[in-house]
Amino acid sequence: MNILIIGSGGREHSLGLALKKSKNCDSVFFAPGNTGTAKLGQNLAISETDFSALIKAVKRHSIELTLVGPEGPLVNGIVDHFESHNLTIMGPNKIAAQLEGSKAWAKDKMKSYNIPTAAYETFTEFNDAKSYIESRNVYPIVIKADGLAAGKGVTVATSYDIALNALTECFLDQKFSQAGLQVVIEDFLVGEEASILAFTDGETIIAMPPAQDHKAVFDADKGPNTGGMGAYCPAPIATPEIQEQVLEKVLKPLINGFKKDGILYKGIVYAGLMIAPSGQASVVEFNARFGDPETEVILPKLKTDLIDIFLAVINGTLHHLKIEWDNTTVVGVIMASGGYPGDFEKEKEISGIEAAEEIKNVSVIHAGTKEKNNRIVTNGGRVLCVLGQGNTIQDAIKIAYTGVDKISFKNQHYRTDIGKKAI
Ligand code: AMP
Ligand code: GLY
Repeated sequence: MNILIIGSGGREHSLGLALKKSKNCDSVFFAPGNTGTAKLGQNLAISETDFSALIKAVKRHSIELTLVGPEGPLVNGIVDHFESHNLTIMGPNKIAAQLEGSKAWAKDKMKSYNIPTAAYETFTEFNDAKSYIESRNVYPIVIKADGLAAGKGVTVATSYDIALNALTECFLDQKFSQAGLQVVIEDFLVGEEASILAFTDGETIIAMPPAQDHKAVFDADKGPNTGGMGAYCPAPIATPEIQEQVLEKVLKPLINGFKKDGILYKGIVYAGLMIAPSGQASVVEFNARFGDPETEVILPKLKTDLIDIFLAVINGTLHHLKIEWDNTTVVGVIMASGGYPGDFEKEKEISGIEAAEEIKNVSVIHAGTKEKNNRIVTNGGRVLCVLGQGNTIQDAIKIAYTGVDKISFKNQHYRTDIGKKAI
């Protein structure tokens, strides 16, 4: 089977690596891909937003299955487009992808399906939102632009001034364009975060082992939030009891609620959770896709054929499948460009990738990389995700950082404490 993976990050490289292990995988294509994906298959110079060029490429290369990495194409209805051409694609359609595309829509669904989440109000007018924070007068309070904002639309406001500034950016400065003209204001949740991703065919939902991302740019969770500076799986904070709670109180109610509402949700559900000291898990957000860097640390543990899983999702036969995972722990450390998540320079030469890959149980996942004059250079904020796989979290951390130590590029930076929370 020929497969197309849409996207260009570490998540897509990891998906490609997992699919290549499948007995049914012939060729993998990436649009647009990166240097890592070019080694696995063929990169197509097509943007993830150019649906008609993607459809043409699928026909030209006899691609039988398309996977979508990032949220943008899903929220913009790529699944509906492909299906209208009778092409097989895995992911939620445009209506279902609002789970990630509109925070207000997602919160309303959670409320109606009784899924634990922070109390909230939705606003479409600056003055109403301002009056609300003044009347609530509790901090921190969380202000969220409704639509997609590349991970930058959420402010955890620790004071009135910060909250007012967030509202000003959304409504008056229109920093997030349309995406910020509706705002969700919600209560601050205390606890530790974890991500539980699941496969669903719209009837059956099967969770993957829990992972934990490290969103802040610096050690000890200091500094601004990023797309994620590293992750590990499994995350012991999500105990078997909490996993069961999330399945029964979050994932199943979501899919059953959608069914009742006539919404067919197929693909990946990503539940971003806050686990309170009491052990109560609440949903911070849902995503309609694989997480990045969670995917990089989850998929190496998968024992079941990934194509079989994706086809079961698409064909509605997930209840027949037993999905198995190994007992290892995987730690992934992101090596980022200096300045990220702010401005950064590109095209810094990267050395040491091969030396890192020679180390047992180290793999190097490419995110923001490209080739220039036969050299691998940086091409994004998050450049590489260096994985260590071990029998314990301690082993996995040690292995991952042994890999990191071999690699260098100018102005690189990375966190030195990925996985420590699990110890
Ligand atoms: P989101 O894009 O909704 O996941 O929000 C980004 C980050 O903001 C989350 O990963 C949390 O760290 C933080 N956050 C969002 N909502 C809340 C909340 N209600 N309480 C505490 N932290 C939150
Ligand atoms: N790791 C966070 C995300 O994928 O949204």
